[in-house]
Amino acid sequence: MCGIVGYIGKENASKILIDLTRSLEYRGYDSAGIAIYDSKENKFLIKKTTGTIDRIKQEILNEIDGTTGISHTRWATHGKINEKNAHPQISSNSKILIVHNGIVENYQEIKNNLIKSGYNFTSETDSEIIANLIEFNLAESEIKDALEKTMDSITGSSSIVGISKDSPNDIFLIKKGNSGGLVISENKSGEKIICSDPTIITKFSDSYRYLVDNEIAIISKHKNNFIRENKEPNKRVVNIKTNTILEDNETYQYKMEEEIFYQKKSIKRIIDDKNDLIINKLNESNIKFENIQRVLVIGMGSSFNAGLLGSYYFESISSLKSETINASEFIDSKRIIDSNDLVIGVTQSGETAETIKALEYAKSKGAKTISVTEKNISQASIISDTNVNIGCGPEYAVASTKTFTATALTLYIISVYLSRDNENKKNLENNLLGLDSKIESLLLDTKDTKEIAKILSSKEHILYLGRGIMYPIAMEGALKMKEICYIHSEGYAAGEMKHGVNALIGDNMPSIVLCPPDETYPKMISTINEIQARNGEVIGLIDKDDDNTNKLLSNYLTIESHNFFIDPILYVIQLQLISLYSSLRLKINPDRPRNLAKTVTVE
Ligand code: F6R
Repeated sequence: MCGIVGYIGKENASKILIDLTRSLEYRGYDSAGIAIYDSKENKFLIKKTTGTIDRIKQEILNEIDGTTGISHTRWATHGKINEKNAHPQISSNSKILIVHNGIVENYQEIKNNLIKSGYNFTSETDSEIIANLIEFNLAESEIKDALEKTMDSITGSSSIVGISKDSPNDIFLIKKGNSGGLVISENKSGEKIICSDPTIITKFSDSYRYLVDNEIAIISKHKNNFIRENKEPNKRVVNIKTNTILEDNETYQYKMEEEIFYQKKSIKRIIDDKNDLIINKLNESNIKFENIQRVLVIGMGSSFNAGLLGSYYFESISSLKSETINASEFIDSKRIIDSNDLVIGVTQSGETAETIKALEYAKSKGAKTISVTEKNISQASIISDTNVNIGCGPEYAVASTKTFTATALTLYIISVYLSRDNENKKNLENNLLGLDSKIESLLLDTKDTKEIAKILSSKEHILYLGRGIMYPIAMEGALKMKEICYIHSEGYAAGEMKHGVNALIGDNMPSIVLCPPDETYPKMISTINEIQARNGEVIGLIDKDDDNTNKLLSNYLTIESHNFFIDPILYVIQLQLISLYSSLRLKINPDRPRNLAKTVTVE
């Protein structure tokens, strides 16, 4: 979850490292730090801070000068958020400096041994043992061997970037397991950048080397020396092609707002470019789709919720058995998986640790795998047989919005592709036409949504209720409210209410009821009646032409229905807006909610 940057070149490293570290803050933003080698004084200049790197920007620019350096933005796993635990972590004798993303699972055991050997520890992090262990190994061997020994001694997944005082113009890299991306990039002037995410360095260079599991490299000005190199993968060196964001002339205060409103464009892009983004990739894939008997979808958070919608599509459109499983439960739930299964890993970042691990597990059982991501290359795309791109452009706000709807639409398109009912395919494709205009009109007038946000932002608990195809949307609505408003919210299958949840209904717990004009409508009306009979407050999301439900409710928002399969996208956008406006009323920065990171690379 942390962001790593390294620079070797001829420019002042400080500015470059600060700018790139800031661009990685979506991976964590609780503390930051930088180390630059000062060749005149032959020492490292180090600055750390809690919060973001901007807090020490001026100090760094005034006081730190040098052309080789590393920096880090942290999402705490081991140890509190303070300067001592911020990276870079430094070895006892200040010979080794490292920045780290991942978890050293056996760190306590290594720490105990190093303490016995006289090493001091000043932080509570697992990362500090890496710096000390490299220094310890260096006493008896060269840096190459010391790095290899260190990699072999630590367990868990780690991406490590560091500098040794003995060769301060070089940067070393260790990639063990799937602990977030790590790339080396070089431009025409011979400058080198190392970082967690290739998409933030597209201006610097368009080619890079993506490190994979079990690789170690030492990068110097004139060469990249791979001490350990994984010979197998063929997807490592690529040109970066990011999904460009289409022009948007409006200005927004927050990224999340921009990304919600961008959906009128991203949805159109996916519909228009579905062949390039999805269909051609499936056609080119070596998966024999005719042999697939079951589709398992895996993901976390919003990607899991989008997956639930996907399973609905695979069952009802592709006529394939389907289930969506929380990726963190995929291995532990001991499911039987075989070569007739298609496992779809849904992960916009392509880096989520649980999803990557589950994809690897599925592969080991012989299943065919597809990753559904926003990236052209990622851990997920390297592992899976085929990667499908959701085409909505990068998302920066922590809470997923446009990536959720883009993923949902992508899964719909895959389900139509897998459908064996050729006669109906065209109709299913036509269901998408005009969706972007519906989104545009929904986003045009947000006055009523803001009124609903006014009511909800003062509550402590909220229930989101849906049935059938709207159940995943209730889950997603509740997740958004938790994430950016810190209000306890739960998404439930409406039918579940009578089985316990009704006991919670009271003054401080309104229910948002999703009431589309489909087969679930009569039962949703019963749910509304049952809540109201217990003096519960109901806020409805109802169809524009529904002249009955509006009479039951004092607060509701209307949505112009598009098509049964596609309406969840419209309903979820309305829920995204409700959370956004509630968050703004609560004076929370929706882009940077507490305790969260956008890319979650540790289990
Ligand atoms: C919710 C959210 C998270 C992510 C989850 C998976 O708004 O952003 O729940 O959906 O961390 O992330 P990806 O899709 O990158 O695997």
